[in-house]
Amino acid sequence: MKNHELIEMAKAMLSKAYVPYSKFPVGAAILCEDGTIYTGCNIENAAYGPTICAERAALCRAVCDGNLKIEKVAVVAETEDYCYPCGVCRQTLYEFNPRMKIICGRHDGTIKEHTLDELLPCAFGPVSLNDKLS
Ligand code: THU
Repeated sequence: MKNHELIEMAKAMLSKAYVPYSKFPVGAAILCEDGTIYTGCNIENAAYGPTICAERAALCRAVCDGNLKIEKVAVVAETEDYCYPCGVCRQTLYEFNPRMKIICGRHDGTIKEHTLDELLPCAFGPVSLNDKLS
């Protein structure tokens, strides 16, 4: 699966976003190691706080399907510049693979790739819990 194909799958989710408050649709597509793809969109809520970002919506689908080996996550919004995952999404994704690739698409069709640990340095993850004294 090429990066631009994953971005296209994320883009296809923009029309599904439930965004009555922000009017800011986001689409995401997760590629797992076995080749399965899970897509997601942001889902807002009248209480604002319970809003689920597109990346976490896609992640929930993968985890509920028992597919925890995440290789890449593509993210797009209707913005001029790249749309990067928010801090909560970075932390949530970090749990499953600090080395996963984050693929961000821009309006002009250009694509940028990072590893998650580049976007969330010095992160707290599952390994951190094993570092407890005694
Ligand atoms: N949003 C995402 O879906 N993913 C991100 O990583 C950044 C923010 C959504 C949440 C909210 O519905 C809207 O974008 C505006 O913040």
